[in-house]
Amino acid sequence: MSNTAQHAPARGLQKTLETNSILLLLAILLLVSIGGVIEIVPLFYLHNTIEKVEGVRPYAPLELAGYNIYVREGCYTCHSQMIRPLRDEVERYGHYSLAAESMYDHPFQWGSKRNGPDLARVGGRYSNDWHRDHLRDPRSVVPTSIMPGYAFLSRAPLDYEHIAEQMKTLRLVGVPYNDEQIDNAAADLKAQSAPDDPGAEALRKRYPNAILNDVAAKGGVTEEDALIAYLQHLGVSVDFKLYDDKASINVR
Ligand code: HEC
Repeated sequence: MSNTAQHAPARGLQKTLETNSILLLLAILLLVSIGGVIEIVPLFYLHNTIEKVEGVRPYAPLELAGYNIYVREGCYTCHSQMIRPLRDEVERYGHYSLAAESMYDHPFQWGSKRNGPDLARVGGRYSNDWHRDHLRDPRSVVPTSIMPGYAFLSRAPLDYEHIAEQMKTLRLVGVPYNDEQIDNAAADLKAQSAPDDPGAEALRKRYPNAILNDVAAKGGVTEEDALIAYLQHLGVSVDFKLYDDKASINVR
């Protein structure tokens, strides 16, 4: 048999497809969807795509209220919260971000814009007082800063009337708040915002590592208090010494 005769049927199909755009389109869709199905179907059989990591807990009510303000003020338009596993990022910001660290953020705040530094591990890096000065007037602590001031937050009383409802709603989408945490939401919020509140111990039991405010909330809890509690919790949940061998990137 000659070469030409052997390839004739394939050539015929190719010619039909290439001269008929609708058929070509259908054939492309068919091929692409095979690839899609192979990628997507296995995910339906996985119980969870996020590896559980010890230490990660849902936000305490004051931190959650602070998260709301972070989103409301659009801090994510200048700050990312995702340290990538690249040497320069890890050396500057600390251990690269794990998926589990933002699993209770709805919506997550990874961001893609860095007019300012990444904030994924800013918790514990500065004192509460530094944050107060910086938020009220960024140039008082970082003279070249282009960050806008948020002094009004220190004068805005925090509205936390619906914080327990928000926790209930978050529970619907998988954040594991228990009944005790929801019932005590307002008390825990107050305990975290005033340093000598008798509820501080109970708060710490329900939310390990909760950082207490260090100024007595004289005129009541402010939006600034909540935002600082949130910032101080960013990136401090996981003790990476426990995981150094397994998860840490070698930067040396
Ligand atoms: C217009 C962009 C912009 C916006 C909006 C913005 N920031 Fe910043 N931010 C910066 C820049 C630039 C810096 C670095 C200079 C400095 O420290 O002020 C910074 C620094 C910071 C730092 C110190 C980080 C570090 O590791 O030193 C924190 C914390 C911070 N911002 C929080 C916030 C919060 C909270 C908001 C929202 C209320 C916010 N920023 C909104 C630009 C912005």
